[in-house]
Amino acid sequence: MLLVYSQQFQAAYRLLTFIVTISTVLLADSCGESECKMSGIAITGSGSAVPGTFLDNRGLSELVDTSDDWITTRTGISQRRLASSSESVTSIATTASVRALEMAQIEPNDLDLILLATSTPDDLFGSAVAIQAELGANNAVAFDLTAACSGFVFGLVTAAQYIRTGVFKNVLLIGADILSRWVDWQDRRTCILFGDGAGASVLQANECDRLLGFEIKSDGTLNNCLNLGYIPQSQELLEGVNISKGNFGNISMNGKEVYRFAVQRVPEVIDKALFSANLSVEQVDWLLLHQANQRILDAVAERLSIPSERVISNLANYGNTSAASIPIALDEAVRDGKIKLGDTIAASGFGAGLTWGAAIFQWGR
Ligand code: UT7
Repeated sequence: MLLVYSQQFQAAYRLLTFIVTISTVLLADSCGESECKMSGIAITGSGSAVPGTFLDNRGLSELVDTSDDWITTRTGISQRRLASSSESVTSIATTASVRALEMAQIEPNDLDLILLATSTPDDLFGSAVAIQAELGANNAVAFDLTAACSGFVFGLVTAAQYIRTGVFKNVLLIGADILSRWVDWQDRRTCILFGDGAGASVLQANECDRLLGFEIKSDGTLNNCLNLGYIPQSQELLEGVNISKGNFGNISMNGKEVYRFAVQRVPEVIDKALFSANLSVEQVDWLLLHQANQRILDAVAERLSIPSERVISNLANYGNTSAASIPIALDEAVRDGKIKLGDTIAASGFGAGLTWGAAIFQWGR
């Protein structure tokens, strides 16, 4: 009797071992060299949208004392898109999102989370929910994330935590900003830099983890370098009851400080993210930086010894679109066929906060 039991147990054990071995081999085969687990993430879709109105440098020079030559040589920007009063963060973000969902071949109802990285919501209570309603993403939860020009990278890392812990499977991450609402159009030091736009990416749970490494940072002691602050105005409601009924001001920036910070901190944070990904800089196919200034892109690439043909740049056409700049540039490079399936991308955002961060990922499943 005991012998029969023992034989049955051994047979069952051998069968179990066989199944485990086979499934391990199959998983390893489908994932190539990457780490394989169901809680990995993949970026499977991208989309972008910009407002219809162009403003080129010549137009700007009618507004402030500047020139096409100064703006082009100091920043690399030739034109930017500006949102009209009939366009909103919600409308351009929704268009970008529809395109990203189409590429990922999933429906709005498949989404578990919509994360909107923005500093310029249409509603101070948050605009992600308005995008949820426009898309009809009835099963998702939606909320905003504020990290200025680092918003997309911070959002990518945040979304990845939900996916890796198994909480969510399908996430729509949007970077969208309409900074033209908050630019002082009489200030030539800032108004030449910014433009409006939206970019979206679909992140999905995947056997292979395509987010290979990341690092995110902030330093609030440098907060006064770049602000869009609330200007309080005292109002007496009743005798002895005063409230602050003000408004937001304009973007103010210490350009030289932000420039210095970016050129120093961005290569460092990319190096750290590459270290956590166990990759060397030679293994990076594309450097995808926040599109702030061509001189910053060039200086960072030079410090990392990445040749210019591996640097993605589209800021000549759009200027600095804040949280939207990385996902717009990603989307254009994917749709142009520049970024191919499996390419390794080192993305880095930096800006107000001050905040900065890098994410190393491979495009696609
Ligand atoms: O999302 C992150 C946000 N921000 C950034 O990444 C910005 C980082 N900083 C920068 O990109 C650069 O600092 C700027 C493009 C903003 C400025 O370039 P710069 O080479 O640092 O110029 P500057 O501020 O040192 O100004 C040089 C000169 C000044 O004249 P003086 O004092 O030397 O006579 C400025 O008054 O250029 C003048 N200037 C301009 N001239 C023509 C400043 N803005 C303009 C302008 N047109 N638009």
